[in-house]
Amino acid sequence: MQNLITRLKELAKVSAALEPSAEERSSQQTEVMDFANGFLNRLMENPAYVKGNIQHDFSIDNNAKPLGKLIDLYRTEVADKGIMAASGGHLGYIPGGGIPASGLADYMVAITNEYAGVHFASPGAVAIENAVIDWLKDIFGFPESAVGNLASGGSIANLIALTSARDKFGIKNEKIQKSVIYLSAHVHHCIKKALRIIGLEDVQIREIELDNEYRLQPELIARQIKQDKAAGLNPFMVIASAGTTDTGVVDPLKTIGAIAQEEGLWYHIDAAYGGFFILVEQTRALFEGIEMADSLVIDPHKGLFLPYGVGAVLVKDKEAVMHSHHYFANYMQDILGENQPINPADVSPELTKHFRGLRVWLPLQLYGLEPFKACLEEKLLLTSYFRHKLIELGFEVGPEPDLSVSYFWYPSKSRDVNEYNRQLLDLIHQDGDIFLSSTQLDGKFVIRIAILVFRTKKDSIDRAIRMIQRAQDKLGDE
Ligand SMILES: Cc1ncc(COP(=O)(O)O)c(C=O)c1O
Repeated sequence: MQNLITRLKELAKVSAALEPSAEERSSQQTEVMDFANGFLNRLMENPAYVKGNIQHDFSIDNNAKPLGKLIDLYRTEVADKGIMAASGGHLGYIPGGGIPASGLADYMVAITNEYAGVHFASPGAVAIENAVIDWLKDIFGFPESAVGNLASGGSIANLIALTSARDKFGIKNEKIQKSVIYLSAHVHHCIKKALRIIGLEDVQIREIELDNEYRLQPELIARQIKQDKAAGLNPFMVIASAGTTDTGVVDPLKTIGAIAQEEGLWYHIDAAYGGFFILVEQTRALFEGIEMADSLVIDPHKGLFLPYGVGAVLVKDKEAVMHSHHYFANYMQDILGENQPINPADVSPELTKHFRGLRVWLPLQLYGLEPFKACLEEKLLLTSYFRHKLIELGFEVGPEPDLSVSYFWYPSKSRDVNEYNRQLLDLIHQDGDIFLSSTQLDGKFVIRIAILVFRTKKDSIDRAIRMIQRAQDKLGDE
């Protein structure tokens, strides 16, 4: 026994390093906050993209090091390299920025280490998660009885939705190969990935021909469903997008919803990128019919400008979600109780989960909704401004965009157009002042504009135009 007590004392001495004193804590917090403030203060002066390889070996050698050295390493090798996702100059892929208030929320959450999966463990955390879900239900016209979850992002949110559709329709065993899903070739790839993960790789996927602006054509979906039913197949789900990743279009949600209802199919809408534009007067009408969805995905880490790590799913049929996600085990018997709210763990693959609700709830409470709405409207206007400037420079642009994603290309007369634009993008990446990405549309290489970082302002677009001119000067043309 004496040996045991002596050993406990020794171990407590060594492990005490994990619990800094109040003074040490305060000094560590100051070091981290100084880094964060320095980063934010110079963010918009710096380029949005820095191409460069990592110089440092990050391997863990099991020895303790000073925090200051580790912060320096983070600054030079992580924060200052690659795409500056926090920068207003990030106009590639689907950005968001990452409002700092969510960082404060994440810090509070990590310090108090809430167990946000079940009500019994943290009733407050679960209440906040559910308040965010209720807020989303309200915005998107979902009934009170719908359930939802704050997942890590759009991919997992879509996975939860598609799993619910699968279980609602019992798509398993011999039914898989006869079952049919209708979607656009422009759905985000995470949809097809999710189908593979949930065992639906072998369902029939009908990629419906799109119109000239890459929207789904409802009449073609209706015709195909009828043909498939006549052929003895099992149509069970239609998937639409409210803001595609490639070109930002919103599919005709209401007409597709009516078809899904009439044919008795599950209607899923991926609004991960575009969803929050429902809050803006000038784009609200595009979202008519979104309330008809059986399941809906919206990403706060896109359209609410939060840091990466939160995507939301709403599902009307609670039983369908619970079928795969609700579980019980003996060691969880203490959590049972009467009249409990929905536990996030019952509608998600996760049990222990990051308490994501606070990073959404805190900024909304701190600022109210108006600044978010203003920011979204600003993004629409900046997209318009960018397109006008590009046209003035002789670029061709895609059709009038629904939201804040668009694309352009230079119609070079002296060179292969695809090759010219590919080289132009290479030079844009070498310059890096503003970051743009590209895509292929019917074999054509186009440069995308995706304006969704809350820090993107008119000045960022003017910088982008100057950068494009610099790249063009280098490239030369007729
Ligand atoms: C329309 C759409 N759906 C889903 C996703 C996947 O979301 P995440 O990257 O958060 O997993 C994206 C990502 O850009 C998207 O644009």
